[in-house]
Amino acid sequence: MLEYVVACKAEELPPGKSIVAVHEKSPIAVFNVDGAFFAVSNLCPHAAGPLEYGFIEQGRIVCPWHGWSFPLSPEDPPNDGLPRYRVAIEEGEVRVLLPAIEPGKGWR
Ligand code: FES
Repeated sequence: MLEYVVACKAEELPPGKSIVAVHEKSPIAVFNVDGAFFAVSNLCPHAAGPLEYGFIEQGRIVCPWHGWSFPLSPEDPPNDGLPRYRVAIEEGEVRVLLPAIEPGKGWR
């Protein structure tokens, strides 16, 4: 079943910033990239590096630990091991749609 979970107020996540929301012990990194919002697991598939501290380059999140990078878009995610989530802005809140979009598989 799909459900939206509030990550934060939109005003708390200005362009260029990221936050981590924890849902049922799973940390989810949420990014504001020039006004577009994206959410992925905060745990890098390589060695669980904290993607919230990575940097964005051409629509990709670059892991701060070893430099692996992953497209942020949830559309047609590659089979790279990184769960992605759809994000909606409603009533001034950043809402993350759960469950995740599994890499290479679409909706779980
Ligand atoms: S932990 Fe992310 S690249 Fe190694």
